[in-house]
Amino acid sequence: MASLLIKNGTVVTATDQSIADLYIEGEKIHTIGTNLSMKADRTIDAKGSYVFPGGIDAHTHMELPFMGTYASDTFESGTLAGLHGGTTTIIDFAIQKQGDSLGNALNAWHEKADGKAVGDYAFHMAVTDFNDKTRTEIKDLVEKQGITSFKMFMAYKGALMVDDRQTIALMEEVKKYGGMVTTHAENGDMVDHLIAKNRAAGNTAPKYHVLSRPAIVEEEATGRIIDLAHQGDHPLYIVHMTCEEALERVRWATKRNQKVWVETCVQYLLLDESLYFKEGFEGSKWVMSPPLRKKKDQDALWSGINQGLVHTVATDHCPFCMDQKKMGLNDFSKIPNGAPGVEHRMELMFSEGVVKGKISLQKFVDVTSTAPARIFGLAPRKGIIAIGADADLVILDPKKAHTISVKTHHMNCDYSAYEGWNVSGKITHTILRGTVAIENGKANVGKGFGKYLPRTSSGTQI
Ligand code: URP
Ligand code: ZN
Ligand code: ZN
Repeated sequence: MASLLIKNGTVVTATDQSIADLYIEGEKIHTIGTNLSMKADRTIDAKGSYVFPGGIDAHTHMELPFMGTYASDTFESGTLAGLHGGTTTIIDFAIQKQGDSLGNALNAWHEKADGKAVGDYAFHMAVTDFNDKTRTEIKDLVEKQGITSFKMFMAYKGALMVDDRQTIALMEEVKKYGGMVTTHAENGDMVDHLIAKNRAAGNTAPKYHVLSRPAIVEEEATGRIIDLAHQGDHPLYIVHMTCEEALERVRWATKRNQKVWVETCVQYLLLDESLYFKEGFEGSKWVMSPPLRKKKDQDALWSGINQGLVHTVATDHCPFCMDQKKMGLNDFSKIPNGAPGVEHRMELMFSEGVVKGKISLQKFVDVTSTAPARIFGLAPRKGIIAIGADADLVILDPKKAHTISVKTHHMNCDYSAYEGWNVSGKITHTILRGTVAIENGKANVGKGFGKYLPRTSSGTQI
């Protein structure tokens, strides 16, 4: 069995930090201590660097068929890019086609990922058509396939959206087996109405994307889904929250002791809606749903992290190249929604969050790795540095700096959402299940190295 010794690093977990050595045998962490003297096949001196648990991005869309095209990263290119940026595991969404079964969706996603992904992966199931037939599939998905989280969309009417009745029924069925519903919270009818109004007025530019999806759209849906979950005492996870108003609905729910898990994404913490108002078609690069918001919303989300209201930071990685974005050149509502991000989440959160004093090292580890692992049933295998856990580790040198650019990134997308951003701290090594997968920008692993991760439960470990 191959062995690896990582010496003298500052080992950081979601609760503490200390200078320690890690001895890894095969895929697992074998020993944690100081001055370890085991003979290993390889030793890395991590003095002066941080050692974090491998990143877990709980929200990605590789090769998603969406809005008449496909997200441009495959499981191979997207997970490799993730590894370059310290993300060792992704949870992607298998999406049911309306009128089709959940089983077929799962098979389609396994087809895309199995034997191709370079990093480890799990799936959420996105339910777009909940009926008596779909209901019978839930038990098997949870108990046999390791799919314990079920996403529903309150927007994208006519394509992905489900109504409240389906939502309530889905929540009831999923809870029976220890699963959880997760939600894209935007009021699809309000969005459709505002899009139609803007189109009728001849408003075609990318800025009308945000103008058709104001914060109230998200606030209303967030409040409604929280109430639907509350009436049946169901656990709930809200994906990609963007704004103060929606977060206030969550704060209010906590006052009646309701447990709602909240995810935001790195772009909502760092970028704002002014990008949509750039000249020409440039703003299309950031067309995503919900859209980027105001600076005051970024502040609310950062505080939300520290107040324990926001639990995870993901990316909603859903890249489209500029040729694809141009499908909406003359109609903002046809711009494929989504942006690239899986590669830079960890370094951006370290640089903008930890280095700039917004969050502690422990919060950084929690929101990028430990909390998603616990919420989605990947712990204790993933998300921690502990004896017996998978040796998924990131070594980050805080003294190194670099600049993000499309010229150097590994995502299959011809622009970067963070072009020219200077980042303090550089990931020098990403270790996946004991293998040094990335070393100073060079990949030692390739297609098929990633493993599928069946999950145990969702919404039960706090
Ligand atoms: O704009 C986005 N977010 N695209 C991906 C689909 C979704 O809503 O998560
Ligand atoms: Zn969404
Ligand atoms: Zn998404």
